[in-house]
Amino acid sequence: MGGDADLDFWRATAATTSGSVVELGCGAGRILTAIATADRVLVGLDLDAAALSLARERLPEAALIQADLLTWTPPETLRHGAGLVIAGGDLLPLLTEATDLERLFAQAAMLLRADGAFGIDATLIDAELLSEAASDSAWSEDVRWASDEFGEVRRESRLLPDPAGRAGCAQLQIRHWHAGDTSPDQRDPFAIRAWQPVELERIAEGVGLLIHQRGPADRLRWLLRSTHV
Ligand SMILES: C[S@@+](CC[C@H](N)C(=O)[O-])C[C@H]1O[C@@H](n2cnc3c(N)ncnc32)[C@H](O)[C@@H]1O
Repeated sequence: MGGDADLDFWRATAATTSGSVVELGCGAGRILTAIATADRVLVGLDLDAAALSLARERLPEAALIQADLLTWTPPETLRHGAGLVIAGGDLLPLLTEATDLERLFAQAAMLLRADGAFGIDATLIDAELLSEAASDSAWSEDVRWASDEFGEVRRESRLLPDPAGRAGCAQLQIRHWHAGDTSPDQRDPFAIRAWQPVELERIAEGVGLLIHQRGPADRLRWLLRSTHV
């Protein structure tokens, strides 16, 4: 997903919920920054130390925790206390095993208070198109923007086949061209999975989460509520 097109959704969701917000996979705090208000406790969790240090600059008041959401044990003080739990910014496709997605949803269920909402937002990827695209390793341009630091930046990506040949999975590789550079800043490929709505529904149900609101058909943009609290 390019840009900040999701932020209006998160602002609107934040406005219809109350109480503390926990974002799983908060990265540099893009979403938390967009919804921050003086009266709201913000908690962000991410694996990536560099992203979290940017988040700390943006959100000095927030509790930002470096941890793997798959193995993290939420402290008692956070359990069943959140008015909003967020898994946004295309975190879902990065979890390629069903057991990992189950873990994410179970963590959200454990964090939510009785009237809380779990918001997910990710691109709905067509599994067949993903595997077709992965057979052609050509780069394509995703987005370009003007950066104060680098001038014009162009982001390109390409898909490669999943080395383990898993259905619905591929590797995504991203590179950035900065104005004047002769070679790009190229990242290692990482695995993604084209989760389908029916798979997510089954996993949600399994941990006692029910879909309360569905967004546009081309996204996995749902609000879920816990049936257990
Ligand atoms: C695509 S980025 C989105 C960041 C942020 N939510 C946003 O929308 O700007 C996904 C983030 O999830 C984090 N992440 C992926 N797997 C994780 C895990 N198992 N535990 C914690 N964070 C994870 C990555 O480090 C990355 O910062």
